[in-house]
Parts: sequence; C-alpha cells; structure tokens
Amino acid sequence: MLIDSHAHLTLSQFDDDREMVIQRAREAGLKHIITVGLDIEDCHKAIMLAEEYDFIFASVGIHPHDVKSIDTKTYSRLKRLSAHDKVVAIGEIGLDFYRNLSPRKIQFPRFREQLQLAREVSLPVIIHDREAHQETLKILQEERAETIGGVIHCFSGDLAMAKSCLDLGFYISIPGTITFKNSRDYQDLVRELPLNRLLLETDSPFLTPHPFRGKRNEPAYVYYTAKTVARVKNIDVAELADITTCNAQKLFGLFP
Ligand code: NI
Repeated sequence: MLIDSHAHLTLSQFDDDREMVIQRAREAGLKHIITVGLDIEDCHKAIMLAEEYDFIFASVGIHPHDVKSIDTKTYSRLKRLSAHDKVVAIGEIGLDFYRNLSPRKIQFPRFREQLQLAREVSLPVIIHDREAHQETLKILQEERAETIGGVIHCFSGDLAMAKSCLDLGFYISIPGTITFKNSRDYQDLVRELPLNRLLLETDSPFLTPHPFRGKRNEPAYVYYTAKTVARVKNIDVAELADITTCNAQKLFGLFP
C-alpha cells in the first residue's frame, strides 16, 4: 500500500473526472492521498475533498507563487482551517525563484511567518523549493525547523542539501521525474538517501512519470515512482511501499 504524499486534486485539470481519478487511486491500493492547498480558496476546497473521502487528507498554506495575496486576515483564516480534523500539515510553503510570481523580497518574510504558524499549531510543514536551495535551507535553519518537522517536496537539491535537511529531521519526497530515462543523476542521489526518510509523491496533475509522461498525472501513478525508487534502492517494491507508507504516517500522524 502506497501513500501519495502530495497531490493537487482540487485543480481544474480534475474537474471533469475527479471522482474517477479518486476511484482509480483507491483501486490502485493507495492508502492515503494528501491534497495540498495553494491559497485560501484552494485550502477550503482541499478540506472539502478530505471531508468527502475518508482516505484523503489536506494540508493548508499559501504557495510562494501566491504569497503576494496574503493580507491581514490570511493567517487567522489559515489557523482556523488548520484546526480541522483532516488537516495534517501546513503547506505548501517556501520559495520559488524559478517563476518569481511573487516578488522575492516578500517571499522571505511570508515563508518565515508560515513556519511560525506551523510551530504555533503544531503541524509539520510541506516545503516548496524551486531554484532557491541555499535560501530555503538558511531560513529552515534560522527558524529552527527541526522543532517543527516536515518534508521537502519534489526535492531537487544536491546531496549536501539533502544531508542538511536530514540533519533538521526532515523527510525528502521523490516525484515521478525519477522515472525518466535522463534521470540517472537524480537516481544516484536517491540511492544515497536513507529509506526511513523517503516519501513518495505525484504532485499531480503535474510531473507525470514514465510511461505517461506528457499526459496529466494522477495519484494512482505513484506506483511507477515506487517501482523506480525500489529498483534504485535494490529492494522489493512491496518493502519500499511499507517503509514509505510508514514514514508518511509517522510524519503526518495518519493513524486511524
Ligand atoms: Ni505542489
């Protein structure tokens, strides 16, 4: 049994067949899906979906693209949402210097404020870091993120960064891009990471694994990522599933 630790089931790409996508995830044997919020409206939708399906959980936070939308009411709303039974994390939060959809200079304080919020409500964080490795790490260290806990989603840093994140007690989440033929370097990096700190994710509808690359991604495809990671780690896929499922349950407190 697998857990998709990061999906965006609320997005419009799923509007035509969301129920079928969720059904396929269940049939594929997924134990849980965490659907991750991007802004206040999306966080509401994520919680509604989690209320509808017992095996779906939600996280709430403001994505670095959207932190320019944060106003005086945002944090009290997030705090209220975070108290919901099915909310298991604050995220995704972090830095994105690839698209810079919010100005960099406001990404920094909004990231720190959301880390502080996570500490206040005692939830782990889901971190987005795109082309901002050094800055992300520095803020996590300065904000003493080891006392919060969390995961670096779609990890794209190098081995040194991975080790620093592991030192903070963080988990590292592996997306479907590891299945690509040109991902040898990434596979080599994952080979070096401890199994007890790995999570698997789809980031669906994005980052579709081989053999569906180019099409829309969905949680059931986390199986292809698991298969590749198991091969890289030279263990049975069932064993990898057990370990990564246990890791996600532990981090997000997903116990019945
Ligand atoms: Ni995401």
